This record gives sequence, C-alpha cells and structure tokens, in this order.
Amino acid sequence: MYCLAVSSLNEIPWDELRAKARVAAAKSYAPYSHVHVGAAGYTSDGRVIEGSNVENASYGLTLCAECSLLGDLVRQGAGRIVAVAIVAGDGEPIAPCGRCRQLLFEHGGSELLVDAGASSPPTRLIELLPGAFGPDDLGPRSGS
Ligand code: THU
Repeated sequence: MYCLAVSSLNEIPWDELRAKARVAAAKSYAPYSHVHVGAAGYTSDGRVIEGSNVENASYGLTLCAECSLLGDLVRQGAGRIVAVAIVAGDGEPIAPCGRCRQLLFEHGGSELLVDAGASSPPTRLIELLPGAFGPDDLGPRSGS
C-alpha cells in the first residue's frame, strides 16, 4: 500500500468538500430510511468527486454514498482518495458504516482523512478501521 503525499492539511478544500457533500445528500435516493447521505472526496490529482446513497425496495441492495463516490473515482481515473466529507441530510457529519470503511481503505489507505466537522480535526481512516485488511494481505497468503 503506497502513501499519498499531502504535505499540509491546508491543501484540502474542506469547506468545498462539506458544501458538495451537502448538495449530494440533497440528491440522494432514500425513500425507505429517509436518511439522506452525501459524500465528497478530494483526490490525489486534485479533483472533487461526489456520491449519494441510493436505496432499493430490496433493502439489502442499498448503495451507500461512499460506494457511489468510489465508483465515480474509478470511472474518472482520478487516482486515490485523500480526504472525504460525509454528511447526512442535516448537513452534519455522519459516521461511515463498516463496509464503507473497508471500501475507503482500498482506495485511500490508512492515511485517508475523514472530516469530523469544521470545529474538529479530521480522523485518519486507520483510527476508524484499526488493523485493516487490505490488498497487501493478499499476496503472501495466496496459494498456501
Ligand atoms: N449510509 C450511507 O450512505 N453511508 C454510510 O456510511 C452510512 C449509511 C446510508 C445507507 C442508507 O441509505 C441510509 O444511510 C441509512 O442506513
């Protein structure tokens, strides 16, 4: 797993990420839970990408906002994700679910910064997913 070079927290456009996550939350499809979630991520090549949760009548098929964001990251060939803001419909941060922590780890690694709101420092993903399993765990364990 390689690390991303973000030399300063000031390089991250947190206000823009929060604003875009709020817009994405307003576009979410959440007729079942009514929990509207939006996510906006800052990429290693300087783009901002967004995602919204997309629910389904078959509840277990729901896609989280982060899942939608990461689909776009890959589709755009935008590299890695460096920082992410995830908000609910009230505009405040919402914790990423366990599955999304794993998905974010794949594309952002342990140093990915997760917004905790304007008055708190961001959280490193490794604090949310300690002892994470990831791509580096596969090679040495395969074939044995
Ligand atoms: N949700 C997300 O979009 N991301 C998360 O990390 C937590 C949960 C969505 C899924 C579902 O549509 C709604 O929030 C309630 O669980």
